[in-house]
Amino acid sequence: MTKHDATFLRHFSMIIAGLMVFTVFLILFANYIYAGFTAAESADGPSERQVAQMAKVDERLTPIGGVYAGETGRAAMLAAAEAARAAAASKVAYGGTLDGSVIYGNLCGACHNAGVGGAPKMEMAAWNARIAQGMDVMVRHAIEGFQGDGGIMPARGGNPSLTDEQITVTVQYMVDTLQ
Ligand code: HEC
Repeated sequence: MTKHDATFLRHFSMIIAGLMVFTVFLILFANYIYAGFTAAESADGPSERQVAQMAKVDERLTPIGGVYAGETGRAAMLAAAEAARAAAASKVAYGGTLDGSVIYGNLCGACHNAGVGGAPKMEMAAWNARIAQGMDVMVRHAIEGFQGDGGIMPARGGNPSLTDEQITVTVQYMVDTLQ
């Protein structure tokens, strides 16, 4: 064995020994990190740190399409807002209009135009006696409902979402348009 070979062998075994030490270090280090993530779950469940860690992992694993809430989230919110608006509107009769002709045309006229069920038609003769009672009484009868000799006037013409104010303007409209 030449002197040259001896030097080579010494260096070579030093490198091997170094790599072995490094390998052991890597094993221990990996073990240490792994323990940090999955430290044996104790009887009372995962630790706070583990829960936080799992949440982070979940977040990172969420498919990109799954968190793309741009349109879906916005669309859902818009749909909900639209539904709420529609629900609110449906509780306000005829959009809350205070135009008596609109309410009359949509509802009251169904009976009062042709005198259905004994409803007084829109002719002065049918209304003289009623008008003589005064506006207040007629409005109250229209709001609460009324049964006289003629027939049954349903409360609020049958639409409970009409407000007192809407009934009042409609009765006023009816009286004003009598001929
Ligand atoms: C289902 C048919 C019907 C509808 C709808 C209806 N009415 Fe009448 N209404 C009657 C009848 C029948 C009478 C007559 C009651 C009586 O005198 O016996 C009457 C009477 C009235 C009177 C006279 C009350 C009085 O004191 O003499 C007013 C005012 C009136 N209606 C307003 C309205 C208004 C406003 C609406 C719409 C919001 C309406 N009605 C919708 C059937 C209807």
